[in-house]
Amino acid sequence: MAETRTATLSIDGKEVQLPILSPTEGPDVVDIRKLYAQADVFTYDPGFTSTAACDSTITFIDGDAGILLHRGYPIEQLAAKSHYLEVCSLLLNGELPTPDELEKFENTVTRHTMIHEQMHNFFRGFRRDAHPMATMVGVVGAMSAFYHDSLDINNSRQREIAAFRLIAKMPTIAAMAYKYSIGQPFVYPRNDLDYASNFLHMCFAVPAEPYDVNPTISRAMDRILMLHADHEQNASTSTVRLASSSGANPFACIAAGIACLWGPAHGGANQAALEMLREIGTPDRIPDFIAKVKDKNSNVRLMGFGHRVYKNFDPRAKVMKQSADEVLDLLGVKDNPLLQVAKELERIALEDDYFIQRKLYPNVDFYSGIILEAMGFPTSMFTPIFAVARTVGWISQWKEQLADPQLKIGRPRQLYMGSSMRDYVEVENR
Ligand code: ACO
Repeated sequence: MAETRTATLSIDGKEVQLPILSPTEGPDVVDIRKLYAQADVFTYDPGFTSTAACDSTITFIDGDAGILLHRGYPIEQLAAKSHYLEVCSLLLNGELPTPDELEKFENTVTRHTMIHEQMHNFFRGFRRDAHPMATMVGVVGAMSAFYHDSLDINNSRQREIAAFRLIAKMPTIAAMAYKYSIGQPFVYPRNDLDYASNFLHMCFAVPAEPYDVNPTISRAMDRILMLHADHEQNASTSTVRLASSSGANPFACIAAGIACLWGPAHGGANQAALEMLREIGTPDRIPDFIAKVKDKNSNVRLMGFGHRVYKNFDPRAKVMKQSADEVLDLLGVKDNPLLQVAKELERIALEDDYFIQRKLYPNVDFYSGIILEAMGFPTSMFTPIFAVARTVGWISQWKEQLADPQLKIGRPRQLYMGSSMRDYVEVENR
């Protein structure tokens, strides 16, 4: 970070010089760390719309140009040429792995996919109709009660083991949450399958008959995982970083990230988007729905549209739309009515002034639900699959944060608008 220029802030005639930091990509950043000490004022930015909360070398987004880079590599190239575990290795370690490094990485993940047998009892404590995200928050948090030898965040070897355990076991946990919710037996992982195929196998196989994973479906799943792997300082990643800043153990931090991801404004949007498409039902009902979205009193949003950072297009959405066509074609459901509603909705919204003015475009979750449904997943599994994919992003950011010698506990301040100091009044005098 080059630091050659300063910004001058003038408050009541007093001037404060603030260093300007220049990143390798993206807008300059005014360093306000010493502002309170120098000028006795805070800054106010509730949704972090203008605030960089950390420095990072992992992922870069240019929201105006629709660019997403992981360690410098464009997401379109990764989606076309790479695969999920290679992207995991890249995110975690900073460079594309050599063939030997990749083989070792894949072997290590594969050998950690089983979970402690006693953890099965945990699942059985949940109601069958629990949302799989509720089960995942609980079970991932409970990993800290089972894997004591990877809780010491000051030990780099233990940090590494925790990272592998989380990436390897998350598909197993998500698949078990699903199997439990439909009353089917848990399916153990298979080490001869790749990451995406193994996940599909654990979700859809039953002991009564063999289950063959279709390679095109597996490739589509792998691509969904890749497209969701990391997205710099989004809400769930920031939650993981904030939790971790207190020294919390990795499993507790990732459980916090899963809890945050569940919200419909974030990872829950893929479920909400598909439910919305179902509610609309047919293309002729789109105009009425758009009118509702534009009505300020309705509180209705076009789910799967809009993004805090992308104000041009979401590059992940382009790849996802293409994948939706491929998967539906393969499954012989090209005339899927939901896909037709989605495409028509996108066409109408992109020509509408309301959406143009607010720079609202389809995000990654507009089409992902259609693919997942075609694969046979119920809507309640959409967000758990996002959690499986994002685990590597959370872990990479967590690892980076812990390696930062300047790590401080995250402690935002506030603009207090409550009552000034006043004297307590006894209950009989109120
Ligand atoms: N439908 C209709 N209007 C919208 C939408 C939408 N999806 N998103 C934003 N707007 C409008 C707002 O009403 C607001 O209009 P106004 O200026 O007239 O008041 C304007 O656009 C700006 O909206 P904000 O809420 O300030 O934008 P913000 O950056 O805070 O929100 C968010 C981003 C949360 C993603 C929002 O676009 C949204 O709720 N989208 C739907 C949910 C969704 O798809 N989330 C997934 C995000 S991607 C991910 O997590 C993988």
